[in-house]
Amino acid sequence: MKRKVFVSYPIAPAGLDLLQQHNIEITMHADHVPLTQPEFIRQFQNHDAVIMTLGEQVHSDVIELALRGNPPTKIFSNYGVGYNNIDVAYAKSNHIFITNTPDVLTDATADAALLLMLAVARRFRTAEHLIRAGKFQGWSTLKQLGVDLNGKTLGIVGFGRIGQAVAFRAKAFGMEIIYTKRTPLELRIGKQVSFETLLRTSDVVSVHTPLTGETVHLFSRREFEMMKPNAILINTSRGAVIDEKALVVALREGKFFGVGLDVYEQEPHVSPELFTFENVVLLPHIGAATTETRNRMSLICAENILDCFNSRTPRNLVY
Ligand code: GLV
Repeated sequence: MKRKVFVSYPIAPAGLDLLQQHNIEITMHADHVPLTQPEFIRQFQNHDAVIMTLGEQVHSDVIELALRGNPPTKIFSNYGVGYNNIDVAYAKSNHIFITNTPDVLTDATADAALLLMLAVARRFRTAEHLIRAGKFQGWSTLKQLGVDLNGKTLGIVGFGRIGQAVAFRAKAFGMEIIYTKRTPLELRIGKQVSFETLLRTSDVVSVHTPLTGETVHLFSRREFEMMKPNAILINTSRGAVIDEKALVVALREGKFFGVGLDVYEQEPHVSPELFTFENVVLLPHIGAATTETRNRMSLICAENILDCFNSRTPRNLVY
């Protein structure tokens, strides 16, 4: 019998092509408006495998439905590296595979962190706005002044694949690297420090930790107080690692040189006050959004499913 895969959002073609070559039947939600959770619940059941995104929640209710499907769902292949939207322990205890797409999006996401860092440090938003508004009056000596990255200390919170890729890039910009990581790591590119030391000594802080019970609101008022006045804060990981309300308050108090965000606490909602600050650069969660990366993510999702269908442990099992 033909295997059936449900895809919850339109994705890059590479993985879909691979599944079709294996004679797998694909049902894809083809609309770029994400499925609501009730719609996802209504549609995913009775498929052998599901490719889903960070917008869908796979908690115990979904896993119970997966087990009772005809056919039961054997794998949720997450189109992304972060899987805070999935109850991994519950899936594991019910022998359902959960996979993700690590490695292939490391470079694109690290590039996005540097993009935000540079944009904030060089006041890109204001400068670009000025020229589009027809207010460019010629080269000037004391206007639009940003800050150098060269010689500054970059504190990287979470020194996994993406954090390290950011370190290598920042090193090329002449930055000193310090980082936090739960396990000790000997990497000559930077120095492992405590979270508090990182907060107190970094000129730029870039967040690359996964969202877990321990990292929700890792940054709130207390942490902002510890940071240098005029520091730059960048987040390309998950919005909820930063307490967005407390961030708005700190911005109002003039705490930062600037802030660059690609992710938000309640996506797609963005705290409206964030739009009011000149020194805040906002991106719509595009960290891994390049054509090449999205195709590689698509391919990996498909490969994980094929592993499962061929009775192998999927290559990117998260547990
Ligand atoms: C995107 O945010 C991802 O987790 O891959």
